[in-house]
Formats: sequence, structure tokens, C-alpha cells
Amino acid sequence: MAGVHPVFVLLAAIGIVTGLYTLYAMIPVLLPFLFAASIIGLLIRAAQIARERRRERDPGEAIRFEDLRLKEIVPRGAWIKENIRGHDAAVDRVLSRIQQGLTLASPHRTLGAFLLVGPTGTGKTYLGELVAKALYPDSEPVILRMNQYKDHPDVFTLIGPPPGQPGYEVGGALTRPALENPYRIVVLDEFDKSHPDVRHCLYDILDSAQCREKSSGRTVHFCACVFFATCNAGVEALRAIWAETSDPIQRSGRSREALAREGFERALLARFDEIVFMDQLKPVDVAEVACLQLAKHWRQYGIELTYASPDVLVEAVKRNVEFQDYGVRQLSHLIQEMATPLIEAARRRGAVKVRLDLDRSTGCITAEDSR
Ligand SMILES: Nc1ncnc2c1ncn2[C@@H]1O[C@H](COP(=O)(O)OP(=O)(O)OP(=O)(O)O)[C@@H](O)[C@H]1O
Ligand SMILES: [Mg+2]
Repeated sequence: MAGVHPVFVLLAAIGIVTGLYTLYAMIPVLLPFLFAASIIGLLIRAAQIARERRRERDPGEAIRFEDLRLKEIVPRGAWIKENIRGHDAAVDRVLSRIQQGLTLASPHRTLGAFLLVGPTGTGKTYLGELVAKALYPDSEPVILRMNQYKDHPDVFTLIGPPPGQPGYEVGGALTRPALENPYRIVVLDEFDKSHPDVRHCLYDILDSAQCREKSSGRTVHFCACVFFATCNAGVEALRAIWAETSDPIQRSGRSREALAREGFERALLARFDEIVFMDQLKPVDVAEVACLQLAKHWRQYGIELTYASPDVLVEAVKRNVEFQDYGVRQLSHLIQEMATPLIEAARRRGAVKVRLDLDRSTGCITAEDSR
């Protein structure tokens, strides 16, 4: 009843009593039924209040495992692969693991924990963001830049400082969002750059899917969470392993060994359900990403891109080669740079649909209105 105006409650009560009295005056035999119905209503409400109180005390009570077990993420794979290019096998593997996690959802285990390894700008963080949109569209993912957790005291930034210490009322950067809403995708970006004690703290979380927030003393439940840790270390070694074998068991075992040689603790590696390698994109994938980004860029200005000639995409790929070492991160800047003058001109003439071509004589991109 919290949040309901008392005048409204009073008027509703008067309405109900008057209604019941009229009904009783007309058909007196209904009295025992009305009495029984009121008692049942009261009992239901009392049980509801008790449940709400329990949930407030222990947020784990708020997790509906029956609903999680019915959720399906695999059918959203097509949408994720439409947005993230060149990693179809990795996406399938991640989604089938999460699906298993959903089917077996229970306290004391997360829905999945993945270590995404790959060069910069290949879509590791983006994969976490897309999975978040697909699984929990109403809940923002928790994205933590772990390179900012380089010292021992940063453990408290993650799980909240003890009472009395600065920042304790704010809680932990990981624990507070999970207390507010336990349905979360957690992305631990640049995980390899965090302090070993910070990583140790995650041992328990990945192991038992819960921890105690130091500042509030409340137990935080992560059993409705999927964890993605991303890292740039060990790329060469994993590239060699992926080239040598396509057997998932071999890849998993050998990549754990390779990452242990890179300095990761074996105990930590064992806590990830899957190690996923996301290598540099091939030129054809870069062209597809360019295509997606071009369409997105024009759409922001209310203009639909009906066609982009292959020459335009080849030009984008060619220019991206210079920035290859940054993955496709620079591509959106290039596209912005290529398209902005054309968008200005198209908006001035009121175009709603355009097609892009490359003028071979000048090497410039042209935008023509299309129907
Ligand atoms: N495979 C891809 N398909 C489509 N877009 C991509 C892909 N990879 C990257 N992008 C685009 O590039 C942006 C940057 O990618 P992202 O942040 O995921 O890189 P990253 O692999 O996490 O890099 P880093 O290791 O530096 O953190 C994304 O927001 C997305 O727009
Ligand atoms: Mg990233």
C-alpha cells in the first residue's frame, strides 16, 4: 500500500463498506460468504506484506528463478549477430552457455562467466552490451573499467568501504547496482589490468554468486547475472591455438594454460565457464561494420540510406587499414568524417532517402536522393 494516498484508501474503504452493506441488505444470506471473502483477502495481503519485507531484507528473495528458467536467449542470436560482425561462432557459444545457465538458474551460481580475449576494438565490450539488451532490455548493464582498480583499496570501491569510511553511504560500484536490481549483465573491462586483490574478490563472487557489501552489510546476489571480463593479454598465443585446433575442449584447456603463462591465476581461470577469443576482423567484416555504421549515422539525422556502393565500403576499409591496430574503433570517426558534409547538403535540400556512390574520377563520395 506504500505510495497510495490516504484519502484514496479512505474513499475506497467507504465505497467497499457501502457496497457490501447494500448487497447484504438485499440478500442477507450472502453474509457468511462476504465474511469469508474478507478474511481470505486479509490473509493474502498479510502474506504479500511478509514477502515484501523478506525481499527488502534479502534481495535474493526478489529473484524469480521460475521466470529465469523460462527465458530464451538463443533466439536473439540472429539479432546479436546482425549487429556484431565476424564473431558468429563466439556469439553462438556464449549464448548457448547462457541458455544452459538460464535453464539451471538457482541460488549460488551465476548465469555464466566469460573471459573475452582479443585485440582492441574487436567488439568485446560491445558483445556484453548487446547481450544485456537481448536478455534484460529494461536493465542497464554494469560496465566497470577495471584498469581504474589498480590498487588494493580499490577492492572497497568494488564492494563498498566499511561503515564510517569515506564513500560508504554510496556502496560498491559492483554491489550497489546489483542490490538495486539483481538482473544485470556485468562487464569487467580490461580485467587483466586490475589489482590481484580486486581479482581475488571476484573469486568468491563467481564461485558462490554472492558477496557481502561491506558498507551496508547486506548480502548481494549475482545468480541472475552474466559476467563478461575482457582482456587484451595473450592474443598471440590464443590466435595460434585457434588456428591449430577447432576442438572446443582443446581450445579451452590450452588457452587456460596460455593465459596462466601470461600471469593469470589458474584458480581464477577455472572460474570462467568459457574463454572466448575475438580476433581482428577480416576486411569483409570491416566492410559490413562500415555499412552498419553508415546507415546508423545517417539515420541519426532522419535520412534513410537505401544503398551504399561497394566502392564506398572498399574506400572505408582501405582507410581503416591505417588504423588496423585499433580494430574498428576508428571506423566510426572515419565514417563521420566522410559523411558529415554530405549529410549537411542532403538536409539542406530536404532529402529523406539517399544512395551513396564513389565518383571514380575525383575519388569523392557522392550522395544522391533516391526514392
Ligand atoms: N565485431 C564488431 N561488429 C560491429 N561493430 C563493432 C565490432 N567490433 C567493434 N565494433 C564497434 O566498435 C566499438 C568499439 O568496440 P568495443 O568497445 O567492443 O571494443 P573492445 O574489443 O572492447 O576493445 P578494448 O579491448 O579496447 O576494450 C563498438 O561500440 C562498436 O560500435
Ligand atoms: Mg572493451
